[in-house]
Amino acid sequence: MTAARDVTVVEVGPRDGLQAETRTVPAAVKLRLISQLADCGLPVVEATSFVSAERVPQLADADTVMQGLERRAGVRYPVLVPNQRGFERAVAAGAREIAVFTAASDAFNRKNINCDIAESLARLRPVVQAARAQQLWVRGYVSCVLGCPYQGRVEVREVVRVTRALLDMGCEEVSLGDTIGVGTPHAAREMLNACAAEAPLSSLAVHFHDTYGQALANVYACLEAGVRTVDASVAGLGGCPYAPGASGNLATEDLIYMLDGLGLKSGVDLDALIATARWISAEVGRAPVSRLAQIKKRLARS
Ligand code: HMG
Ligand code: MG
Repeated sequence: MTAARDVTVVEVGPRDGLQAETRTVPAAVKLRLISQLADCGLPVVEATSFVSAERVPQLADADTVMQGLERRAGVRYPVLVPNQRGFERAVAAGAREIAVFTAASDAFNRKNINCDIAESLARLRPVVQAARAQQLWVRGYVSCVLGCPYQGRVEVREVVRVTRALLDMGCEEVSLGDTIGVGTPHAAREMLNACAAEAPLSSLAVHFHDTYGQALANVYACLEAGVRTVDASVAGLGGCPYAPGASGNLATEDLIYMLDGLGLKSGVDLDALIATARWISAEVGRAPVSRLAQIKKRLARS
């Protein structure tokens, strides 16, 4: 689907979602999920993650998933890459888009990737440069932009500094991650505005986990501030294995319902997405957390 879009929704369910589910699903289910999401009209589907299998066993089959991908025309399939080793694995498996990740918190980075911010940037720089030299599209993530599970408060100026560093090393886009979902709308908008003062808004995305039920309100505040790339996870799957208490991302179907109501085109077929949300929720063995999947089920019964 190549419809003109007002908002680019980046679907992170197959990676951010499945990395944190208790039940690991087989590669065939992951591949079906990725295909269905692309068929729903999602323009970017983050497919998997080339991290240590010991640290994230749910995505240990990243190579198989990438090699089995049935690409749809016009759809991008980035994969998470933590270091040179992950980059080499991703390229060997056929990745054409990568996402590198760090945080605005030293404490979180040490738990998540075993190094502080400075070391992580030094580790990522040659990876991003190598990727760009091979014409790969590169996204950077900054985690803990509105709070850290280990150090608590995170200064906005640190978020801006890390964002700038990722863009300067060659990332085309930076996704600002509220990893533990503690943010509220004014704080989210202030943080986005501070980053936008240093970087074009078109290079920024927002990524809200929904731990405290604030994700949709935070997205709305950031849309008002001009952001046009928003991450979400089908059925609200997931969390982060190294962020205790963090719930899944904002559910994609709840986001699409809001965008449709606001008259902002995303190119996503909401009914097909709800069907996908219900199917993958059954596969991971739990009810979908999204409002949309729940209300459709109740209406279908009545
Ligand atoms: P390390 O321990 O510092 O690295 O791990 P190391 O180089 O010392 O390697 C340790 C072992 O891992 C070695 O194996 C390596 O070969 C292996 P051993 O010799 O002991 O058998 N290894 C790898 N294996 C496969 N693929 C690789 C790789 N690299 C090393 N790429 C590392 C560093 C970052 C790899 C590790 O700490 C790790 O994998 N951490 C997992 C982090 C993670 O996946 N977190 C979740 C994703 S981030 C997220 O969800 C947030 C986000 O959604 C935004 C938001 O919400 O804020 C993006
Ligand atoms: Mg996340």
